Amino acid sequence: MEHFGTLRSPRELIVGCGQRRALGLVAKGLGQRALVVTDERLAADANCHAMIADLEDNGVTVQVQGGTLPDVPEESAFIAAEAARSFAPDVVIGIGGGSCLDMAKCVALLLTHGGRPDDYYGELKVPGPILPLIAIPTTAGTGSEVTPVAVLSDSKRSLKVGISSPHLIPTVAICDPELTLTCPATLTAIAGADALTHAIEAFTATRRPATAGLTQERVFVGKNVLSDHFALIAISLLWQGLEAACTEGNNLAARAQVMQGATFAGLAFGVAGTAAAHAIQYPVGALTHTAHGAGVASLMPWVMEWNRPMIGSELEQMASVMGVADGTAVIPAISALFARIGIPPTLKALGLAEDKLDWVADQSCGIERLIQNNPRPINRSDMRTLLEAAFWGDVSLIQQNRKANT
Ligand SMILES: NC(=O)c1ccc[n+]([C@@H]2O[C@H](COP(=O)([O-])OP(=O)(O)OC[C@H]3O[C@@H](n4cnc5c(N)ncnc54)[C@H](O)[C@@H]3O)[C@@H](O)[C@H]2O)c1
Ligand SMILES: [Fe+2]
Repeated sequence: MEHFGTLRSPRELIVGCGQRRALGLVAKGLGQRALVVTDERLAADANCHAMIADLEDNGVTVQVQGGTLPDVPEESAFIAAEAARSFAPDVVIGIGGGSCLDMAKCVALLLTHGGRPDDYYGELKVPGPILPLIAIPTTAGTGSEVTPVAVLSDSKRSLKVGISSPHLIPTVAICDPELTLTCPATLTAIAGADALTHAIEAFTATRRPATAGLTQERVFVGKNVLSDHFALIAISLLWQGLEAACTEGNNLAARAQVMQGATFAGLAFGVAGTAAAHAIQYPVGALTHTAHGAGVASLMPWVMEWNRPMIGSELEQMASVMGVADGTAVIPAISALFARIGIPPTLKALGLAEDKLDWVADQSCGIERLIQNNPRPINRSDMRTLLEAAFWGDVSLIQQNRKANT
Protein backbone atom coordinates (compact mmCIF):
# COMPACT_ATOMS: atom_id res chain seq x y z
CA MET A 1 0.00 0.00 0.00
CA GLU A 2 2.67 2.51 0.95
CA HIS A 3 4.42 1.84 -2.39
CA PHE A 4 1.47 3.35 -4.22
CA GLY A 5 2.36 6.35 -6.37
CA THR A 6 1.38 8.22 -9.48
CA LEU A 7 3.06 10.91 -11.51
CA ARG A 8 1.48 13.04 -14.22
CA SER A 9 3.75 15.37 -16.09
CA PRO A 10 4.49 17.00 -19.44
CA ARG A 11 5.73 14.67 -22.17
CA GLU A 12 9.00 16.61 -22.04
CA LEU A 13 10.26 18.77 -19.16
CA ILE A 14 13.35 20.83 -19.92
CA VAL A 15 15.09 22.75 -17.12
CA GLY A 16 18.25 24.83 -17.27
CA CYS A 17 19.82 28.20 -17.98
CA GLY A 18 19.47 29.19 -21.63
CA GLN A 19 16.99 26.40 -22.46
CA ARG A 20 14.41 28.94 -23.69
CA ARG A 21 16.48 28.81 -26.88
CA ALA A 22 15.16 25.29 -27.50
CA LEU A 23 11.68 26.71 -28.13
CA GLY A 24 11.91 27.01 -31.93
CA LEU A 25 12.95 23.39 -32.41
CA VAL A 26 10.47 22.11 -29.82
CA ALA A 27 7.55 24.00 -31.41
CA LYS A 28 8.53 22.94 -34.94
CA GLY A 29 8.10 19.33 -33.81
CA LEU A 30 4.52 20.05 -32.74
CA GLY A 31 3.16 22.14 -35.61
CA GLN A 32 3.59 24.99 -38.07
CA ARG A 33 1.31 27.66 -36.59
CA ALA A 34 1.88 28.83 -33.03
CA LEU A 35 -0.27 31.09 -30.89
CA VAL A 36 1.88 32.80 -28.25
CA VAL A 37 -0.12 33.81 -25.15
CA THR A 38 1.57 36.36 -22.88
CA ASP A 39 0.94 39.72 -21.19
CA GLU A 40 1.70 43.31 -22.11
CA ARG A 41 4.82 43.54 -19.99
CA LEU A 42 6.40 40.35 -21.30
CA ALA A 43 5.35 40.98 -24.93
CA ALA A 44 7.65 44.03 -24.81
CA ASP A 45 10.54 42.06 -23.28
CA ALA A 46 13.72 41.30 -25.25
CA ASN A 47 13.69 37.62 -24.23
CA CYS A 48 10.17 37.24 -25.56
CA HIS A 49 11.13 38.93 -28.85
CA ALA A 50 14.07 36.55 -29.19
CA MET A 51 11.85 33.51 -28.60
CA ILE A 52 9.39 34.69 -31.26
CA ALA A 53 12.26 35.29 -33.72
CA ASP A 54 13.54 31.77 -32.96
CA LEU A 55 10.09 30.33 -33.77
CA GLU A 56 10.02 32.20 -37.07
CA ASP A 57 13.60 31.15 -37.90
CA ASN A 58 12.37 27.57 -37.54
CA GLY A 59 9.60 28.13 -40.06
CA VAL A 60 6.79 28.47 -37.52
CA THR A 61 4.11 31.12 -38.25
CA VAL A 62 3.38 33.07 -35.06
CA GLN A 63 0.46 35.08 -33.77
CA VAL A 64 0.96 36.87 -30.44
CA GLN A 65 -1.81 37.55 -27.94
CA GLY A 66 -0.26 39.89 -25.40
CA GLY A 67 -3.32 40.90 -23.38
CA THR A 68 -3.40 38.44 -20.47
CA LEU A 69 -4.65 40.07 -17.27
CA PRO A 70 -3.58 38.99 -13.77
CA ASP A 71 -5.81 36.27 -12.29
CA VAL A 72 -7.37 35.62 -15.73
CA PRO A 73 -10.95 36.92 -15.79
CA GLU A 74 -13.18 34.18 -17.28
CA GLU A 75 -14.58 36.48 -19.96
CA SER A 76 -11.06 37.41 -21.15
CA ALA A 77 -10.19 33.74 -21.78
CA PHE A 78 -13.34 33.29 -23.88
CA ILE A 79 -12.59 36.45 -25.91
CA ALA A 80 -8.96 35.42 -26.45
CA ALA A 81 -9.99 31.98 -27.74
CA GLU A 82 -12.58 33.46 -30.13
CA ALA A 83 -9.98 35.94 -31.44
CA ALA A 84 -7.52 33.10 -32.14
CA ARG A 85 -9.99 30.77 -33.86
CA SER A 86 -9.48 32.08 -37.41
CA PHE A 87 -5.68 31.79 -37.03
CA ALA A 88 -6.23 28.06 -36.31
CA PRO A 89 -3.01 27.36 -34.41
CA ASP A 90 -1.48 23.87 -34.24
CA VAL A 91 0.20 24.67 -30.95
CA VAL A 92 -0.35 27.17 -28.11
CA ILE A 93 2.66 28.62 -26.26
CA GLY A 94 2.22 30.30 -22.86
CA ILE A 95 5.07 32.62 -21.83
CA GLY A 96 4.79 34.37 -18.46
CA GLY A 97 3.74 33.96 -14.86
CA GLY A 98 0.96 31.66 -13.66
CA SER A 99 -1.67 33.98 -15.15
CA CYS A 100 -0.30 33.69 -18.71
CA LEU A 101 0.19 29.92 -18.41
CA ASP A 102 -3.37 29.45 -17.10
CA MET A 103 -4.69 31.68 -19.89
CA ALA A 104 -2.80 29.57 -22.47
CA LYS A 105 -4.34 26.39 -20.98
CA CYS A 106 -7.83 27.88 -21.23
CA VAL A 107 -7.36 29.13 -24.76
CA ALA A 108 -6.04 25.72 -25.90
CA LEU A 109 -9.01 24.06 -24.16
CA LEU A 110 -11.64 26.34 -25.74
CA LEU A 111 -10.04 26.16 -29.20
CA THR A 112 -10.23 22.37 -29.01
CA HIS A 113 -13.56 21.70 -27.32
CA GLY A 114 -15.52 24.97 -27.71
CA GLY A 115 -17.92 26.40 -25.13
CA ARG A 116 -17.02 28.76 -22.32
CA PRO A 117 -14.62 28.33 -19.38
CA ASP A 118 -17.49 27.80 -16.93
CA ASP A 119 -18.49 24.63 -18.82
CA TYR A 120 -15.33 23.07 -17.40
CA TYR A 121 -15.14 24.40 -13.80
CA GLY A 122 -14.37 21.66 -11.29
CA GLU A 123 -12.64 18.33 -11.82
CA LEU A 124 -12.48 16.02 -14.83
CA LYS A 125 -14.88 18.03 -17.00
CA VAL A 126 -12.51 18.31 -19.98
CA PRO A 127 -13.69 15.63 -22.42
CA GLY A 128 -10.36 14.79 -24.10
CA PRO A 129 -6.88 15.94 -25.16
CA ILE A 130 -6.40 19.62 -26.02
CA LEU A 131 -4.13 21.31 -28.58
CA PRO A 132 -0.40 20.78 -27.92
CA LEU A 133 0.71 23.29 -25.32
CA ILE A 134 4.19 24.58 -24.49
CA ALA A 135 4.57 26.37 -21.13
CA ILE A 136 7.49 28.71 -20.41
CA PRO A 137 7.29 30.20 -16.90
CA THR A 138 8.87 33.59 -16.16
CA THR A 139 8.08 33.47 -12.43
CA ALA A 140 9.16 30.65 -10.12
CA GLY A 141 6.07 29.82 -8.13
CA THR A 142 2.80 28.43 -9.39
CA GLY A 143 4.16 25.27 -11.04
CA SER A 144 1.42 25.75 -13.66
CA GLU A 145 3.90 24.62 -16.34
CA VAL A 146 3.44 21.04 -15.07
CA THR A 147 0.06 21.05 -13.29
CA PRO A 148 -3.42 19.94 -14.43
CA VAL A 149 -5.00 23.20 -13.22
CA ALA A 150 -6.03 26.58 -14.64
CA VAL A 151 -7.18 29.16 -12.08
CA LEU A 152 -9.58 31.91 -13.19
CA SER A 153 -11.55 34.73 -11.66
CA ASP A 154 -15.24 34.97 -12.47
CA SER A 155 -17.18 38.15 -11.69
CA LYS A 156 -20.31 36.01 -11.09
CA ARG A 157 -18.61 34.26 -8.15
CA SER A 158 -16.98 35.69 -5.04
CA LEU A 159 -14.15 33.11 -4.96
CA LYS A 160 -11.68 32.15 -7.69
CA VAL A 161 -12.50 29.06 -9.74
CA GLY A 162 -10.42 26.23 -11.16
CA ILE A 163 -10.51 23.89 -14.12
CA SER A 164 -8.70 20.67 -13.16
CA SER A 165 -8.02 17.90 -15.63
CA PRO A 166 -4.92 15.90 -16.59
CA HIS A 167 -5.69 17.01 -20.18
CA LEU A 168 -4.54 20.53 -19.21
CA ILE A 169 -0.97 19.43 -18.39
CA PRO A 170 1.28 21.11 -20.96
CA THR A 171 2.87 18.86 -23.57
CA VAL A 172 6.28 20.46 -23.04
CA ALA A 173 7.52 22.74 -20.24
CA ILE A 174 10.71 24.77 -20.61
CA CYS A 175 11.95 26.17 -17.30
CA ASP A 176 14.80 28.62 -17.84
CA PRO A 177 15.80 30.40 -14.61
CA GLU A 178 17.35 33.28 -16.57
CA LEU A 179 13.79 34.37 -17.39
CA THR A 180 13.20 35.08 -13.67
CA LEU A 181 16.18 37.47 -13.30
CA THR A 182 13.90 40.45 -13.94
CA CYS A 183 11.40 39.49 -11.20
CA PRO A 184 11.46 42.13 -8.44
CA ALA A 185 12.10 40.93 -4.86
CA THR A 186 8.43 41.10 -3.82
CA LEU A 187 7.27 38.99 -6.76
CA THR A 188 10.13 36.51 -6.16
CA ALA A 189 9.13 36.20 -2.50
CA ILE A 190 5.40 35.82 -3.11
CA ALA A 191 5.77 33.32 -5.95
CA GLY A 192 8.50 31.34 -4.15
CA ALA A 193 6.49 31.21 -0.93
CA ASP A 194 3.52 29.85 -2.92
CA ALA A 195 5.84 27.13 -4.27
CA LEU A 196 7.12 26.20 -0.81
CA THR A 197 3.51 26.05 0.41
CA HIS A 198 2.62 23.73 -2.51
CA ALA A 199 5.49 21.42 -1.57
CA ILE A 200 4.59 21.36 2.15
CA GLU A 201 0.85 20.86 1.55
CA ALA A 202 1.54 18.04 -0.95
CA PHE A 203 4.05 16.38 1.38
CA THR A 204 1.67 16.55 4.36
CA ALA A 205 -1.57 15.83 2.44
CA THR A 206 -3.79 12.99 3.54
CA ARG A 207 -3.03 9.50 2.22
CA ARG A 208 -6.00 7.81 0.52
CA PRO A 209 -6.70 4.07 0.21
CA ALA A 210 -5.05 3.01 -3.07
CA THR A 211 -8.14 1.59 -4.75
CA ALA A 212 -7.85 0.56 -8.39
CA GLY A 213 -9.99 3.51 -9.48
CA LEU A 214 -8.23 6.17 -7.43
CA THR A 215 -6.02 7.68 -10.14
CA GLN A 216 -8.79 7.71 -12.75
CA GLU A 217 -11.64 8.96 -10.57
CA ARG A 218 -9.83 11.91 -8.99
CA VAL A 219 -7.40 14.55 -10.22
CA PHE A 220 -5.85 14.94 -6.76
CA VAL A 221 -5.21 11.58 -5.14
CA GLY A 222 -3.39 12.57 -1.94
CA LYS A 223 0.13 11.94 -0.74
CA ASN A 224 2.00 9.04 -2.40
CA VAL A 225 5.55 7.85 -2.95
CA LEU A 226 6.07 9.79 -6.18
CA SER A 227 4.59 13.10 -4.99
CA ASP A 228 6.63 12.73 -1.77
CA HIS A 229 9.82 12.39 -3.78
CA PHE A 230 9.28 15.65 -5.67
CA ALA A 231 7.81 17.48 -2.67
CA LEU A 232 10.82 16.77 -0.49
CA ILE A 233 13.34 17.81 -3.15
CA ALA A 234 11.27 20.97 -3.71
CA ILE A 235 11.32 21.78 0.02
CA SER A 236 15.09 21.31 0.08
CA LEU A 237 15.72 23.49 -3.02
CA LEU A 238 13.38 26.29 -1.92
CA TRP A 239 14.76 26.26 1.62
CA GLN A 240 18.27 26.66 0.20
CA GLY A 241 17.56 29.21 -2.53
CA LEU A 242 14.53 31.34 -1.76
CA GLU A 243 16.01 33.94 0.58
CA ALA A 244 19.07 34.51 -1.63
CA ALA A 245 16.88 34.80 -4.75
CA CYS A 246 14.94 37.57 -2.97
CA THR A 247 17.89 39.49 -1.54
CA GLU A 248 20.38 38.97 -4.42
CA GLY A 249 18.21 39.11 -7.53
CA ASN A 250 21.18 38.38 -9.83
CA ASN A 251 22.17 35.21 -8.01
CA LEU A 252 21.52 32.79 -10.86
CA ALA A 253 22.34 29.70 -8.79
CA ALA A 254 19.65 30.68 -6.26
CA ARG A 255 17.23 31.54 -9.09
CA ALA A 256 17.83 28.08 -10.57
CA GLN A 257 17.18 26.36 -7.21
CA VAL A 258 13.93 28.29 -6.75
CA MET A 259 12.69 27.65 -10.28
CA GLN A 260 13.46 23.93 -10.06
CA GLY A 261 11.87 23.85 -6.60
CA ALA A 262 8.70 25.50 -7.91
CA THR A 263 8.42 23.07 -10.83
CA PHE A 264 9.04 20.03 -8.60
CA ALA A 265 6.45 21.37 -6.15
CA GLY A 266 4.04 21.53 -9.11
CA LEU A 267 4.76 17.88 -9.97
CA ALA A 268 4.01 17.00 -6.33
CA PHE A 269 0.82 18.99 -5.76
CA GLY A 270 -0.44 18.31 -9.29
CA VAL A 271 -1.18 14.75 -8.16
CA ALA A 272 -1.28 14.98 -4.33
CA GLY A 273 -3.30 18.23 -4.16
CA THR A 274 -3.05 21.09 -1.70
CA ALA A 275 -5.05 21.43 1.52
CA ALA A 276 -6.25 23.83 4.25
CA ALA A 277 -3.84 26.74 3.64
CA HIS A 278 -5.06 26.93 0.04
CA ALA A 279 -8.72 26.50 1.05
CA ILE A 280 -8.51 29.38 3.54
CA GLN A 281 -6.63 31.66 1.11
CA TYR A 282 -9.51 31.63 -1.39
CA PRO A 283 -11.93 33.65 0.81
CA VAL A 284 -9.09 35.62 2.44
CA GLY A 285 -7.78 36.64 -1.00
CA ALA A 286 -11.28 37.62 -2.15
CA LEU A 287 -11.67 39.96 0.86
CA THR A 288 -8.17 41.41 1.12
CA HIS A 289 -7.19 41.45 -2.58
CA THR A 290 -3.76 40.22 -1.54
CA ALA A 291 -1.58 38.00 -3.73
CA HIS A 292 -2.32 34.27 -3.61
CA GLY A 293 1.26 33.44 -2.56
CA ALA A 294 1.28 35.94 0.31
CA GLY A 295 -1.99 34.53 1.66
CA VAL A 296 -1.13 30.82 1.50
CA ALA A 297 2.32 31.38 3.01
CA SER A 298 0.96 33.54 5.81
CA LEU A 299 -1.41 30.67 6.68
CA MET A 300 1.02 27.76 6.22
CA PRO A 301 2.74 27.79 9.66
CA TRP A 302 -0.64 27.94 11.45
CA VAL A 303 -2.03 25.09 9.37
CA MET A 304 1.14 23.04 10.03
CA GLU A 305 0.71 23.73 13.75
CA TRP A 306 -2.88 22.49 13.50
CA ASN A 307 -1.72 19.38 11.63
CA ARG A 308 1.23 18.70 13.96
CA PRO A 309 -0.29 15.59 15.66
CA MET A 310 -0.67 13.91 12.24
CA ILE A 311 2.57 14.95 10.52
CA GLY A 312 5.32 13.97 12.97
CA SER A 313 7.16 11.77 10.49
CA GLU A 314 6.91 14.38 7.70
CA LEU A 315 8.30 17.08 10.02
CA GLU A 316 11.28 14.84 10.84
CA GLN A 317 11.95 14.23 7.13
CA MET A 318 11.68 17.94 6.42
CA ALA A 319 14.11 18.69 9.26
CA SER A 320 16.60 16.34 7.74
CA VAL A 321 16.56 17.94 4.25
CA MET A 322 16.48 21.45 5.71
CA GLY A 323 19.40 20.78 8.05
CA VAL A 324 17.54 21.93 11.20
CA ALA A 325 17.82 20.09 14.54
CA ASP A 326 14.62 18.01 14.47
CA GLY A 327 10.91 18.03 13.63
CA THR A 328 10.06 20.53 16.35
CA ALA A 329 12.36 23.12 14.72
CA VAL A 330 10.66 22.97 11.30
CA ILE A 331 7.58 25.18 11.82
CA PRO A 332 9.56 28.01 13.51
CA ALA A 333 12.20 27.78 10.76
CA ILE A 334 9.59 28.07 7.97
CA SER A 335 7.92 31.01 9.80
CA ALA A 336 11.27 32.75 10.18
CA LEU A 337 12.12 32.30 6.49
CA PHE A 338 8.74 33.71 5.47
CA ALA A 339 9.23 36.66 7.85
CA ARG A 340 12.69 37.40 6.40
CA ILE A 341 11.30 37.58 2.84
CA GLY A 342 8.40 39.83 3.88
CA ILE A 343 5.40 37.48 4.14
CA PRO A 344 2.84 38.87 6.65
CA PRO A 345 2.97 36.60 9.73
CA THR A 346 -0.75 36.74 10.58
CA LEU A 347 -4.12 37.24 8.89
CA LYS A 348 -4.35 40.56 10.74
CA ALA A 349 -1.07 41.72 9.20
CA LEU A 350 -2.34 40.53 5.81
CA GLY A 351 -5.19 43.02 6.16
CA LEU A 352 -8.17 40.79 7.01
CA ALA A 353 -10.87 42.42 9.17
CA GLU A 354 -11.60 40.55 12.40
CA ASP A 355 -15.35 40.61 11.79
CA LYS A 356 -14.85 38.55 8.61
CA LEU A 357 -13.48 35.46 10.39
CA ASP A 358 -16.89 33.76 10.49
CA TRP A 359 -17.44 34.27 6.77
CA VAL A 360 -13.93 32.99 6.02
CA ALA A 361 -14.60 29.91 8.19
CA ASP A 362 -17.87 29.18 6.33
CA GLN A 363 -16.35 29.64 2.89
CA SER A 364 -13.16 27.69 3.49
CA CYS A 365 -15.03 24.74 5.06
CA GLY A 366 -17.17 24.76 1.89
CA ILE A 367 -14.12 23.99 -0.28
CA GLU A 368 -14.42 20.32 0.59
CA ARG A 369 -11.95 19.05 -2.01
CA LEU A 370 -9.11 20.88 -0.23
CA ILE A 371 -10.33 20.47 3.36
CA GLN A 372 -10.71 16.71 2.87
CA ASN A 373 -7.13 16.60 1.63
CA ASN A 374 -5.88 17.97 4.95
CA PRO A 375 -4.18 15.34 7.14
CA ARG A 376 -6.04 16.36 10.31
CA PRO A 377 -9.82 16.83 9.99
CA ILE A 378 -11.14 20.37 10.47
CA ASN A 379 -14.82 20.93 11.26
CA ARG A 380 -16.45 24.38 11.30
CA SER A 381 -15.69 25.01 14.97
CA ASP A 382 -12.08 23.83 14.58
CA MET A 383 -11.74 26.13 11.60
CA ARG A 384 -12.88 29.10 13.67
CA THR A 385 -10.19 28.27 16.27
CA LEU A 386 -7.52 27.87 13.60
CA LEU A 387 -8.48 31.22 12.05
CA GLU A 388 -8.45 32.96 15.43
CA ALA A 389 -4.92 31.62 16.03
CA ALA A 390 -3.76 32.67 12.54
CA PHE A 391 -5.38 36.09 12.95
CA TRP A 392 -3.78 36.98 16.29
CA GLY A 393 -0.63 34.89 15.87
CA ASP A 394 -1.51 32.91 19.00
CA VAL A 395 -0.37 29.30 18.87
CA SER A 396 -1.77 28.60 22.36
CA LEU A 397 -5.32 28.59 20.91
CA ILE A 398 -4.39 25.60 18.74
CA GLN A 399 -2.62 23.87 21.62
CA GLN A 400 -5.64 24.33 23.93
CA ASN A 401 -7.96 22.91 21.27
CA ARG A 402 -5.62 19.89 20.94
CA LYS A 403 -5.61 19.27 24.71
CA ALA A 404 -9.38 19.62 24.90
CA ASN A 405 -9.77 16.96 22.19
CA THR A 406 -7.35 14.37 23.57
N1 LIG B 1 -2.29 26.62 -12.52
C1 LIG B 1 -1.76 26.39 -11.34
O1 LIG B 1 -1.39 25.26 -11.05
C2 LIG B 1 -1.64 27.52 -10.37
C3 LIG B 1 -1.06 27.29 -9.11
C4 LIG B 1 -0.94 28.38 -8.21
C5 LIG B 1 -1.39 29.64 -8.60
N2 LIG B 1 -1.96 29.83 -9.84
C6 LIG B 1 -2.44 31.14 -10.30
O2 LIG B 1 -1.34 31.83 -10.91
C7 LIG B 1 -1.55 33.24 -10.78
C8 LIG B 1 -0.35 33.91 -10.16
O3 LIG B 1 0.78 33.69 -10.97
P1 LIG B 1 2.18 34.43 -10.68
O4 LIG B 1 2.42 34.50 -9.23
O5 LIG B 1 3.18 33.76 -11.53
O6 LIG B 1 1.90 35.93 -11.14
P2 LIG B 1 1.22 36.53 -12.47
O7 LIG B 1 1.34 35.59 -13.60
O8 LIG B 1 -0.16 37.00 -12.12
O9 LIG B 1 2.17 37.77 -12.76
C9 LIG B 1 2.24 38.85 -11.85
C10 LIG B 1 2.98 40.01 -12.49
O10 LIG B 1 4.36 39.68 -12.64
C11 LIG B 1 4.82 40.06 -13.93
N3 LIG B 1 5.94 39.20 -14.31
C12 LIG B 1 5.89 37.89 -14.71
N4 LIG B 1 7.13 37.46 -14.97
C13 LIG B 1 7.97 38.50 -14.75
C14 LIG B 1 9.37 38.65 -14.86
N5 LIG B 1 10.18 37.65 -15.24
N6 LIG B 1 9.91 39.86 -14.54
C15 LIG B 1 9.11 40.87 -14.11
N7 LIG B 1 7.78 40.78 -14.00
C16 LIG B 1 7.22 39.61 -14.32
C17 LIG B 1 3.61 39.90 -14.82
O11 LIG B 1 3.75 40.67 -15.99
C18 LIG B 1 2.49 40.39 -13.90
O12 LIG B 1 2.38 41.79 -13.97
C19 LIG B 1 -2.79 33.41 -9.91
O13 LIG B 1 -3.93 33.60 -10.77
C20 LIG B 1 -2.91 32.07 -9.20
O14 LIG B 1 -4.23 31.79 -8.78
C21 LIG B 1 -2.06 28.79 -10.72
FE1 LIG C 1 -0.78 28.09 -4.63
